Amino acid sequence: MASKKILVTGGAGYIGAHTVVELYASGYLPVIIDNFSKSDRTLLQGIEKITGKSLVFYEGDCANKQFLKGVFQKEAKLEGVMHFAAYKSVGESVEHPVMYYRNNLDSLLTLLEVMKEQHVNNLIFSSSCTVYGEPDSIPVDEQAPFKKAESPYGATKQMCEQILEDAVKADQNLKVISLRYFNPIGAHPSAMLGELPIDKPNNLVPYITQTAAGVRKKLVIFGGDYATPDGTCIRDFIHIADLAAAHVKAIDKLLVEDKNKGYQYYNLGTGQGVSVLQLVKEFIEVTGVTLNYEIGPRRAGDVVKTYANPAKAHAQLGWSSQYTTKDALRDAWAWEKKNLNH
Ligand code: UFG
Repeated sequence: MASKKILVTGGAGYIGAHTVVELYASGYLPVIIDNFSKSDRTLLQGIEKITGKSLVFYEGDCANKQFLKGVFQKEAKLEGVMHFAAYKSVGESVEHPVMYYRNNLDSLLTLLEVMKEQHVNNLIFSSSCTVYGEPDSIPVDEQAPFKKAESPYGATKQMCEQILEDAVKADQNLKVISLRYFNPIGAHPSAMLGELPIDKPNNLVPYITQTAAGVRKKLVIFGGDYATPDGTCIRDFIHIADLAAAHVKAIDKLLVEDKNKGYQYYNLGTGQGVSVLQLVKEFIEVTGVTLNYEIGPRRAGDVVKTYANPAKAHAQLGWSSQYTTKDALRDAWAWEKKNLNH
């Protein structure tokens, strides 16, 4: 039987690439789109090495309707879409809000138009815990209200979810699952695939590994005076391979549902809160490397404390995280060591 084709927008990015590997492992045929605006071509080679497959790949922007339509027509029949393609840097979105709204909204809107025209009805959307802002209580479940977004990036995720909810309400054929990621970290356990920031990293773990590797001089922990046990922020760090596996569970679920069950959304996290300082110490412990770090001033816009209640994803997708934070840090370091030529 022919494998079911799933279009993966942003498939050369960090989360997209790991998900492509999981899709192959589960018998799907991923069709990748990427425009490399924020990703590195070498991740595609990593996917090929791990899977032994030659990839089905189109270079282009999914906000370009002609291009996108062409891919749908050429690859007919696609069973579903996973939409990863988006800008994701909080700081950059504050500096270039219009660029963020234009890119993140246009790509989703164009995708929805083309899906409707081409009768492709299953969509998995990359959302974020950023939609909750600073939650009133933790762990955060899916009932938590959306707070006013801290950044244009966060606002795009909230707006995209609103668009999807409305689109699902209006179209009984359309089936959508949004996955709200907490903090994805780590790399493929083979060390052949991982996070490859094209500029100076904003996120904590690539900054840690690049500092340990000597690419950066020092890690600054942003704030040591928060109202948390050790004064640093608390996050839910989830292994990228766990996150990728959840996407496969989500598309499996949509493909067996015979009709629209309303707009669906799930938190993807481990359920464990880990402080930034704790994570730094665990990194030193599992890798045995020395890490030059210091506590510095707070970073504007940081949520103090958030971690997931992932019970809904467990109950309805049959998914829960399998890897520990230590596994993720070990894998991130193994990947960093292979990529010392930044
Ligand atoms: N941090 C440091 N030093 C650094 C980098 C980060 O101390 O050099 C701290 C941050 O202040 C924060 C924690 O590490 O307390 C995690 O920061 P990240 O930038 O790695 O991740 P965020 O929690 O800020 O961001 C993540 C996703 C975003 C999403 C956001 C929602 O990367 O896409 O969660 O809160 F919008």
